[in-house]
Amino acid sequence: MESCIDEILITEEEIQNRVRSLADQINRDYQGKEIRVVGILRGAFIFMSDLVRNIQVPVSVDFMAISSYQEGMESCGIVRILKDLDKPITRQHVLVVEDIVDTGLTLQHLKEVLATRDPASLKVCSLLNKGERRQVMDLKVDYVGFEIPNRFVVGYGLDFAERYRNYPFLFVLKPEYYRNGG
Ligand code: IMP
Repeated sequence: MESCIDEILITEEEIQNRVRSLADQINRDYQGKEIRVVGILRGAFIFMSDLVRNIQVPVSVDFMAISSYQEGMESCGIVRILKDLDKPITRQHVLVVEDIVDTGLTLQHLKEVLATRDPASLKVCSLLNKGERRQVMDLKVDYVGFEIPNRFVVGYGLDFAERYRNYPFLFVLKPEYYRNGG
């Protein structure tokens, strides 16, 4: 299991500690409110499940699946909704949970789509942020787990060619694994 790992960027313990403090902040900010957590499939599913288990205000969950990458490492700029929400978000306090904001194109598009549906509020919580790579400069990410450098990371829900989501930490693959398509 270890052989594909070039470098561990964020350990399991660091992730779990940060998830708890993000949830503490969310609990404080949403006191007296109910949150509709919208998880973005598939990358955010593990982060979201850890996060919601630490949220103490009333919460309901829904999911969207979006595609902006074609089984590779570069955003093609075209964002498609592959699966929409099951329930309306009108007058709901929506918290979008993302795995990573990179260029920002995916999140910008998603926020525009959700804003047209009249939520009471719309915020974003992303496990990771690659600020260096941002193309959408005025994009607000309300809660960020970790700022990371411009490296392609996998693990804890994030994949390369659909693999490595099951690792409990975040890491960089050895170069030959990226070259061989996972
Ligand atoms: P953006 O539109 O460029 O911000 O891309 C965001 C999406 O790209 C994320 O939701 C991920 O699915 C994917 N992505 C960007 N960087 C990485 C990475 O380092 N590892 C895995 N997926 C990534």
